[in-house]
Amino acid sequence: MGFGCGAGDLFSLEKLERDGCVEYRFSSTRWLITTAEIHMRTQVGIIGAGPAGLFLSLLLQRIGIESVVLELHSRQYVEERIRAGVLEHGTVQLMRELGIGERLNKQGLEHGGIELRFGGRGHRIDFRELTGGKSVTIYAQHEVIKDLIAARLKAKKPIIFEAQDVSVDGLGGDTPSINFRANGVAEKLECDFIAGCDGFHGVCRTSIPSEALTIYDREYPFGWLGILAQAPPSSHELIYAHHDRGFALLSMRSPEISRLYLQCEPDEDIAQWPDARIWEELHKRFATTDGGKLTEGPVIQKGVTGMRSFVTEPMQYGKLLLAGDAAHIVPPTGAKGLNLAVADVRVLAQALGDFYENGKTQILERYSDICLRRVWKVQRFSWWMTSLLHRFADASAFDHKRQVAELDYVTSSRAAAQTLAENYVGLPMEFYE
Ligand code: FAD
Ligand code: DHB
Repeated sequence: MGFGCGAGDLFSLEKLERDGCVEYRFSSTRWLITTAEIHMRTQVGIIGAGPAGLFLSLLLQRIGIESVVLELHSRQYVEERIRAGVLEHGTVQLMRELGIGERLNKQGLEHGGIELRFGGRGHRIDFRELTGGKSVTIYAQHEVIKDLIAARLKAKKPIIFEAQDVSVDGLGGDTPSINFRANGVAEKLECDFIAGCDGFHGVCRTSIPSEALTIYDREYPFGWLGILAQAPPSSHELIYAHHDRGFALLSMRSPEISRLYLQCEPDEDIAQWPDARIWEELHKRFATTDGGKLTEGPVIQKGVTGMRSFVTEPMQYGKLLLAGDAAHIVPPTGAKGLNLAVADVRVLAQALGDFYENGKTQILERYSDICLRRVWKVQRFSWWMTSLLHRFADASAFDHKRQVAELDYVTSSRAAAQTLAENYVGLPMEFYE
């Protein structure tokens, strides 16, 4: 079993032998090892080393609460998985507070606005001016993951990568547990609480009896075809383009790498999109009346992502607390998925802190209600951005005219632009007593 980075990176454990068992102590986490089975105990068992699970582990670490993170995939896999790229103002501040802002400060690209492009013309939404100086930062999700993992391992706290057959047990009782296999050995992690941070396809949400949950779900009749290209970004800020041929988005990862997306069919066959076709379509959707040019370059990665809105209510069941994509999914147009996951675990860390420090359960009991207020506001914004910018195949001529009028309104009314800006940079976090 690898705690941490893998081969050669096991940390020294205190070893005590008694009653035919060997007890290992790793910080305040204990492993009782018999020949066939390993029993561990911790305060919070965290399933999933995505943004939700890793941010939670560092937030808990900061207030002296022990946790073990279990991840299905390898460290390399999670550190290379290409996903989101926009960090809200508050997410950036939190990374700095947690002492993981060094690479972000050097490599992150701070953006004070975005462009909405329609009818062949660009219109800037000035975040700084509209939100009292706030901005967003472009810094890839997998870079955030690298920073979080490095900080966790530097503090010699466990992440168990490549954990298989993960399942949860005893959610209604006092000692919930996580069963899993590592290197073929069956293991059991006993916890006070389990944080279900295992994403949309994880095991935590589906371990809750279906009658205890209400699911709100909407699928969109389109997807996004995304590419990473070795080409300097053609704009220094993001461009969200509405076009009769469909939506397109220009983003970036660095001054040398562009990230571009095209609205496509939800089940689009990527094999039908050779690079030349992708560029041709991008040129059409970003075309401006003043002849602005899109810089091309070799495509280094491409893929298709589906779009859905999804909310689970409540986000807790007994000792299991869901966070991030395990509980909700937003369509990517508002760039909110990662940031919403971070907002959940900030509330969860506060709730657990109040429990362990003061013996209070009030915030913990309201965890779901507190999170869902923000979740639904972010759902609303992500749905609205999606509806504003995409081409809907069944739209009537009236719908189309109304959509263009809305774009015109957002880009000509300070009140409307301010609504977009305050949501895009991130609604303020609310903390509870
Ligand atoms: P995840 O990042 O999904 O992390 C969950 C972790 O749990 C994963 O590491 C997974 O391997 C692990 N896991 C799963 N099952 C188990 C198990 N049984 N046992 C142990 N571990 C398990 N958002 C945007 O804002 N913009 C984007 O462009 C964008 N692109 C995306 C592209 C893709 C392909 C996907 C899937 C998501 C994208 N998102 C995007 C959404 C954003 O990346 C997520 O909202 C964010 O990753 C949520 O973080 P999370 O920690 O809740 O879940
Ligand atoms: C990116 C992704 C988004 O979903 C978005 O709205 C903006 C930027 C990105 O990957 O850079």
